[in-house]
Amino acid sequence: MLVYEKNNLMEEIQQLGKKHGINRNALIPILQDIQAKYHGISDFAQQEIGRMLSIHPVEVYSVVSFYSFLNSNIEGRNVVRLCKTVSCDLAGKCDIVKAIERELGIKFGETTKDKRISLEYTNCLGMCDQGPAMIVNERVYGKLTPEAAVTIINEIK
Ligand code: FES
Repeated sequence: MLVYEKNNLMEEIQQLGKKHGINRNALIPILQDIQAKYHGISDFAQQEIGRMLSIHPVEVYSVVSFYSFLNSNIEGRNVVRLCKTVSCDLAGKCDIVKAIERELGIKFGETTKDKRISLEYTNCLGMCDQGPAMIVNERVYGKLTPEAAVTIINEIK
């Protein structure tokens, strides 16, 4: 990351501190804003947010890695998160994985070369009775079939 980019990001984080407050309760809203803008929260951003809120960077990292809607890597412009938890697994998650990976030519955990789509697994989305379930950006889909999953992927391609 270039120096001017770091300075801009530091300034942006300060602005978010003004918006959400300089306290522990502001941690998730600030992380969400950074995630929404950059599609990921870099190590540098995590350190700066922790420094501003007086929260240890390890704690910031553990929050980022706990929530499936936050991510430490800069990803594609669209993020597809497929539930990997047991109900969805039993409901046919593997067929969805195969269909999406075949359609995009990448594996889960990877991003398309044009940075348009990242594929990730996530923990339970709270739609266990409607599995297999996945979340694309902020929209949740349930009762997926391989055909439906490919249609959704093609809409964001
Ligand atoms: S197990 Fe997939 S949504 Fe709960």
